[in-house]
Amino acid sequence: MDFTYTEEQEMVRELAATFAKNYVAPLSEQMDIDNTMPHHIAEKMAELGFMGINVPEEYGGAGMDEVSKALVIMEIAKVDASVAELLAVHTLTNDIFLKRGTEEQKKKYLALGASGKVGAFALTEPGAGSDASAAKTKAISDGDDYIINGTKCFISNMGPEEGDYVVLIALTDPSAGTKGMSAIVVDRNTPGFSVGKLENKMGLRGANVSELIFQDCRVPKSNLLGKEGEGFKIAMAALDGGRIGMAAQAVGVAECALDAAVDYSTQRIQFGKPINANQGIQWYLADMATQTEAAKALTLNAAALRQAGKSVNKEAAMAKYFASENAVKVAYQSLQIHGGYGYMKDYAIERMYRDARIIPLYEGTSEIQKVVISRAVITGK
Ligand code: CAA
Repeated sequence: MDFTYTEEQEMVRELAATFAKNYVAPLSEQMDIDNTMPHHIAEKMAELGFMGINVPEEYGGAGMDEVSKALVIMEIAKVDASVAELLAVHTLTNDIFLKRGTEEQKKKYLALGASGKVGAFALTEPGAGSDASAAKTKAISDGDDYIINGTKCFISNMGPEEGDYVVLIALTDPSAGTKGMSAIVVDRNTPGFSVGKLENKMGLRGANVSELIFQDCRVPKSNLLGKEGEGFKIAMAALDGGRIGMAAQAVGVAECALDAAVDYSTQRIQFGKPINANQGIQWYLADMATQTEAAKALTLNAAALRQAGKSVNKEAAMAKYFASENAVKVAYQSLQIHGGYGYMKDYAIERMYRDARIIPLYEGTSEIQKVVISRAVITGK
C-alpha cells in the first residue's frame, strides 16, 4: 500500500490545514460556549470545495477521491472536531445521493450540498440506537405521497438554524422489519417536519445535534432514494463510508492532542528540566505517536480501498474502532501530561478531551464495530 499523497491530495490537505488554522481556530472557543456553529463555516467550506469534495464536477462538486476527503476531515479535526463532524456527516449524505439518487435527485441535492446547504442523515431513534433495526418512524403510502410520522434523535447537522435536508430512514412497510425500511429525502421546510430540542452536549459542542419530529409530514414519492425496502441496506452501506470519516476525525483529534503534549512537555520545567526529559513522559509520547500513526494507516487504508470500489465493511469498522479509542486514550494522556493546567479552560486540551469522548459512541459504538469486525472475521467475508 502506497501512503504517499498525490500532488492533488497534498494540495487539498494544505488548503484544509490553512482554513482550519485561519478561519476555524478563532471561532472554536465561542462555538464550545454557544453549543452551536454559525452557518458561515459551511458556506466557507463550500467556497473551498470541501462540502462537495466527493461530488463529481458535473454536479457542481470538486470530484476528489476518498483519501482526499479523509485528509481534509483530519486536518480540520486537528483544530476543531465539531467542524470536522459537520463535514463528515454532510459528505455521507452526498454519498447516498451519488450512489442511490435518481438523476433528478442528484442534480438537486448534490448541487445544493456542494453549494453550502447542509445535509443530515436520520437513522437513530430513542428506542433504536445500536439496534438500528428497531426504528419505528413510518412513511405510509398515500397516493403519490408518503405521510411520515415519528421522532428521530441525536441527529447531527440539524439545529435551530442549521440543516437544510435530511436523508430519513423510515418504515414504508411496518410489517416487514428491516426489509420494510426505505430512505427518503425530506426538505427542512416541509410542513409537518420540525427540528426539536438542540442537545446540550459534554463535548463536540460546536456541532448542531437535534431531535427531529415528523407529524403527518407529506412528501412526494419522488423523494424515495433507491427502491422501497432498501433503506436499511442504504443506511448500512452509507455508514461504511461514514465510519472512515469518523476515523479521520479521531486521527485529527489524536494528532492535535499529541502536538499539544509535545509543546507543553517541552516548555514545562519541573525539577530544573523540561518534563519531557523524563523517560516516563517520553514513553507516553512514543506510545501516543505510534498508536496514532497506526490509526492513520488503518483510516487511509480503508479510504483507499473504498476509492478502489472494494467492500470496506470490516476495514471501516476497524479504522473507526481503533482510531476512536485511540483518540480518547491520547487525549487522556495529553491531559495527564498537562497536569492541573490541562483541566483548565485556558488550554485547548480541555476541549479536545471532551470532544474525543463522543467518537467511540456515534456512527456505531466500539462494541458495534467489534460485532461488524468479528462477523467478517468469522464468515471470512
Ligand atoms: N452494507 C450493505 N448491506 C448491509 C450492510 C452493509 N454494510 N450491513 C448489513 N447489511 C444488510 C445485511 O446483508 C442484511 O441483508 P439481508 O436481510 O438481505 O440478509 C440486512 O442489512 C440486515 O443486516 P443484519 O442482519 O446484519 O442487521 P442487524 O440488525 O444484525 O444489525 C448492526 C447489524 C451492524 C448491529 C447494525 O444495526 C448497526 O450498524 N448498528 C449501529 C447503528 C449505527 O451505527 N448508528 C449510527 C447512527 S448514524 C450517526 O451516528 C450519525 C451521526 O450523527 C454522527
